[in-house]
Amino acid sequence: MNTHLDTTTGADRRQRVFFALWPEPAASAALHAFALRMQARCGGRVMRAETLHLTLAFLGDLPVQRINALRTLAAQVHGEAFDLEIARAGSWKRNRVLWAAPRATPPALADLADALASALRAAGYALEERPFSPHLTLIRNAREAPPPDIEPPATWHAERFALVRSRPDAKGAHYETLADWPLAAPRETP
Ligand code: 2AM
Repeated sequence: MNTHLDTTTGADRRQRVFFALWPEPAASAALHAFALRMQARCGGRVMRAETLHLTLAFLGDLPVQRINALRTLAAQVHGEAFDLEIARAGSWKRNRVLWAAPRATPPALADLADALASALRAAGYALEERPFSPHLTLIRNAREAPPPDIEPPATWHAERFALVRSRPDAKGAHYETLADWPLAAPRETP
């Protein structure tokens, strides 16, 4: 018998959901390889390559009835595709997360996160007020900070964003994409 709390069915059930960008497999593999190298000096638990993601908006545990409405909402959010270069590493002492991040946030990424947050707040979803800090968690429970550069950087072309459900499993968390949407081709600059 599965002893995990089953949050997938029933009117009173809740599911943990968030919007995210999922890297192309080559970028995930490169970031995972970097994480394994960092683990040797920083310790901690390395996230599996297929779970690496950049969260755009975290919604937390929602009643299942509210999740379908998120699909309609997200389909109306406009975002443009962009290139991401993940070249910076760091860690937060407060939660011992070792992360990877872009050196500067591409404007299209900031615009996408803003557009999602505005649409979600307008529809009555509670989001954290803290500023958007784009990152991919590579290691949890890291003992030490990593060196600041990821050499060579991991790159990918972000052209979709996803609504994802997170469920605890024996290996940490299991993520399931519920739906995803395309980002528009960037407008040509004259
Ligand atoms: P983290 O990697 O920095 O922990 C799924 O939990 C995703 O949502 C993770 O990428 C996580 O970021 C992010 N997230 C943002 N706010 C969160 C919160 N309050 N609790 C759990 N996860 C959160």
